[in-house]
Amino acid sequence: MKAALIYQPGGPEKFVLADIPLPEPNEGWVLVKVKAFGLNRSELMTRKGYSPDVVFPRVLGIECVGEVADDPSEEFKPGQKVAAFMGGMGRGFNGSYAEYALLPKSLLCAFESKLSWDQLGAMPEMFQTVYGSLHLSLKIQPGETILIRGGTSSIGMLATQLAKNSGLTVIATTRNPDKKEMLLKNRVDQVLIEDGNLAAQIKAIFPVGVNKVLELVGTSTLKDSLSCAAPGGIVCMTGMLAEQWSFQEFTPMDYIPATVCLTVYDSGQIRVDAQSFQQFVNDVEAGKVNLAIGQTFQLSEIADAHRLMDSNTAGGKIVVVI
Ligand SMILES: NC(=O)c1ccc[n+]([C@@H]2O[C@H](COP(=O)([O-])OP(=O)(O)OC[C@H]3O[C@@H](n4cnc5c(N)ncnc54)[C@H](OP(=O)(O)O)[C@@H]3O)[C@@H](O)[C@H]2O)c1
Repeated sequence: MKAALIYQPGGPEKFVLADIPLPEPNEGWVLVKVKAFGLNRSELMTRKGYSPDVVFPRVLGIECVGEVADDPSEEFKPGQKVAAFMGGMGRGFNGSYAEYALLPKSLLCAFESKLSWDQLGAMPEMFQTVYGSLHLSLKIQPGETILIRGGTSSIGMLATQLAKNSGLTVIATTRNPDKKEMLLKNRVDQVLIEDGNLAAQIKAIFPVGVNKVLELVGTSTLKDSLSCAAPGGIVCMTGMLAEQWSFQEFTPMDYIPATVCLTVYDSGQIRVDAQSFQQFVNDVEAGKVNLAIGQTFQLSEIADAHRLMDSNTAGGKIVVVI
């Protein structure tokens, strides 16, 4: 089978498209014919060599959609549509940047849909992260206000739509004024230009602050995001777009305003159930959610797909269709 491998960390040019043996499933593992996969920024980190547990050569790819090719336990039927995400994919064992992926059965989520593979490929990790951040970590409620910091990211774009569908007022940020229109078209109520100090801008609009903050930029803006929250509000750090993972110094009493709650969302710790994923697929089919797909590539174009992710200009999820 064809697979895109990284032998040595570095830039997008480090991908090698190679023929490697088709893996055979043992008990508990399922061979999946990959139909499409979305790109994730954590794969950009792995490509650069920043994922400490990854040993090269490795086929990257933490998610995919496809069809079951071989399940020795016969729990999944040949040709059955499945989605898979996280759980060591593309890190501890070879992932989805390939024609086939050998995956632990526990990572598979069966679903039904007539949508095209490029649309389906955009969904698993994006949905799981947004659903988990909004409903499990932030516990959003109709009528609330939410600040989405990093609004033009694929996670930010989907979070906006799901928050709007749940009856929230959405304020979203970009560093680039040219992307304001894109955010408004995506149903954002108010766009703010990221300047690293949003608390003053937010308090001018909502004097007590916002109810919820979805932090996608990371620790470089988190202290300011905590200051944007109203008393009793929740701030969830889900992303680290600025690639800054830790604080030099963290003094809780100084960082966290009284009664504001700080939490995180991490797909590695929580799995969204198959029913919620199927409901999301149904909502996309019914036109209730408009998936923001940045651009679609083929496996042979994986380096170009990563170049686009490096450039921050995709404006939505980057998908590779096999
Ligand atoms: N916790 C989890 O389980 C989980 C799961 C999936 C993803 N994530 C994280 O969620 C974040 C979003 O992922 P994604 O795939 O949706 O990203 P993406 O679509 O690749 O994001 C691209 C956007 O990021 C913004 N950006 C890039 N560098 C930035 C910086 N230094 N400061 C502020 N904004 C910056 C740019 O916005 P502008 O140019 O418009 O400002 C760009 O439009 C990532 O950090 C990713 O690792 C977390």
